[in-house]
Amino acid sequence: MGIAVPGMLGALVISLGAAPVAVQSSALVGEGIAGFSPKGYDPKLTPSLCLEKVPQRVGDLPQDWRLTPTFDIEDGKASASLSVPENTSLYGGGEVTGPLLRNGQSIVLWNTDSGAYGVDGGKRLYQSHPWVMGVRPDGTSFGVIFDSSWKATLTTGSERIDFDSEGALFQVYVIDRESPQAVMRGLAEMTGRMPLPPRWALGYQQCRFSYAPESKVREIADTFRAKKIPCDVIWMDIDYMDGYRVFTFHPDGFPEPKKLNRYLNQQGFHSVWMIDPGVKVDPNYDVYRSGAKQDVWTKKPDGGDFTGFVWPGECVFPDYTRPETREWWAGLYKDFMAQGVDGVWNDMNEPAVARELGASTSDTMPDDTHHRGGGALPPGPHLLYHNAYGRLMVEATREGIQAANPDKRPFVLSRANLLGGQRFAATWTGDNFSSREHLELSVPMSLTLGLSGQPFNGPDIGGFLGDASPELWADWIGVGSLFPFARGHACAGTNNKEPWAFGPEVEDAARIAIERRYRLLPYLYTLFENSSRTGLPVMRPVFFADPKDPALRSEEDAFLVGNDLLVVPRWAENPSLPGGVWRDLSLIEGDDGPHQPHLKIRGGAIVPAGKVIQHTGEDSLAPLTLVVCPDENGEASGELYGDEGDGYGYRSGDFGRWRFKARTEGKTVLVSVAKSAGRQALPGEVRVEVVTANGIRRGSGSVTDGIRIGL
Ligand code: GLC
Repeated sequence: MGIAVPGMLGALVISLGAAPVAVQSSALVGEGIAGFSPKGYDPKLTPSLCLEKVPQRVGDLPQDWRLTPTFDIEDGKASASLSVPENTSLYGGGEVTGPLLRNGQSIVLWNTDSGAYGVDGGKRLYQSHPWVMGVRPDGTSFGVIFDSSWKATLTTGSERIDFDSEGALFQVYVIDRESPQAVMRGLAEMTGRMPLPPRWALGYQQCRFSYAPESKVREIADTFRAKKIPCDVIWMDIDYMDGYRVFTFHPDGFPEPKKLNRYLNQQGFHSVWMIDPGVKVDPNYDVYRSGAKQDVWTKKPDGGDFTGFVWPGECVFPDYTRPETREWWAGLYKDFMAQGVDGVWNDMNEPAVARELGASTSDTMPDDTHHRGGGALPPGPHLLYHNAYGRLMVEATREGIQAANPDKRPFVLSRANLLGGQRFAATWTGDNFSSREHLELSVPMSLTLGLSGQPFNGPDIGGFLGDASPELWADWIGVGSLFPFARGHACAGTNNKEPWAFGPEVEDAARIAIERRYRLLPYLYTLFENSSRTGLPVMRPVFFADPKDPALRSEEDAFLVGNDLLVVPRWAENPSLPGGVWRDLSLIEGDDGPHQPHLKIRGGAIVPAGKVIQHTGEDSLAPLTLVVCPDENGEASGELYGDEGDGYGYRSGDFGRWRFKARTEGKTVLVSVAKSAGRQALPGEVRVEVVTANGIRRGSGSVTDGIRIGL
């Protein structure tokens, strides 16, 4: 592996550190993407784990290339740094606490079970993204990938980026393009994209540690339907298992999982079930026995199986660096999925391991625990593979559930991951706390994950740890419903946190918030499809609206959904909002209530909206509503993507993609289809709502023929 760069820049020693290392080769490896390899770089010591495919040289580095890393090594620990121009705004680093604008921040890349984000003051969390994006004062942008999974510290100073690893030399890639959006596309070219998820995964989802026994699961599902609160997914946390043995079902609590899943499906729900990596050491347990027989576990330096403690007690841990182990793991999903399981939740995969019974799972395996590797991956210590453990696990999980259900799109949620891991799993931001601080923090956290290549993410709505107050929960569902991943969750021992658990006022607020999301599903699905091709985030920072405007660079209360919707939470005091026309958008009666964030539509946008449905299996486009907000010139445009919502028919034309346009002609607005692709047809009757300074104008008709609305 490694970039294939003939020729050497040999003597180009640019570091002033104690033991500088020359850049041995540099080359263009894509449009506006440069790869840098230090002298002595060895892919057998630092394999590439972040990239989808190792890029090839496409040309020489241009003479005027602006950003070049310098490499150092000291006591076998490699680092790289880059000077960045004055007044550059820095972002990224993946899952982080603290501000959106990362200048002056430092994080540790060492995946950690950090309950309430309490470990090291929130400076190391569940995932590692060795990635920084910069936006220069003129709005041009760059991104830097430090292609290393070794434990590291990532420091984003004001005019310098430092990546200090505890392992061998690594390669660095720099993307330099005209805008942050173009850099995001470059990141996707390097690290891959989120595959198009099934549509049901975009619905509201309800979880608790744990809904058990299965009668409780039915009760929760039934209550959503009885109360007419839209919901698509019910989650099964660890208590469905038999003594926390993964791939088992508790004989009393969950005696007939297939029947339960069928029941849920009949009510329009999908189910997601948890699987952790730790396998209980138990000679009477078939998963342990088959793993032991195939010798799949990570090893102590003396060659014995490494064991540590998680929920089931003493566990062994699959060594996912081995292709044989990944195949074994993938194979376990065949019978599991045959129980009618729709999606899989991989948790504790930092991996979170207590060294002794009762100790903290914010710990993990010792650094010298041995991973055997195979294929492109060399054997190596845990210090190298720790940050890739969850990512390799979800790669195998995804393969397993795809093989079990070849005609369905897999859905995997993972707590741990590595840069590029969006190719395998969605994520949530781990065990947050039911506090206003964590509610407000959820915005910059999710934005930063989006800017680090992971579009499909969100927090535990309501907060996981601690009791939620009614006001907090209502405010959280108001805003959380507009995140890419929208799931309510709660820890064992905390108060009930379902939409109806806090009394009628909060229940109404929750219904309105969730109905708002469901009305926006056609728009959201269009954004997800776009993201699966482009790598652009679904939830975007406000500065995306105008990267040249310095005033927007640190806005972290308000956020964009796509380009066309602006969400302004109630807690935002004097938010910096983009210029141009933005008008209030109402989708549900009561969505101006005290718990709902303000929602605004961009002048120039056409947003496709559906009707309120109880789950995504119902037809949301009957009718389709086009919400048109003309710009200063009276014009607008927008897009709608639709398909079956699952499966792969869309790859052979079973989809529809429509581009709409609107133009003002005297006292009317004409809305029509500008372009279409795919085999699916638009609904014959389309409603149009034109949002103007003087209120809303409505009409309907066939958009193919053109719909004219009087102003
Ligand atoms: C971890 C997860 C949490 C889950 C719990 C029990 O703390 O982060 O979401 O509910 O384990 O499985």
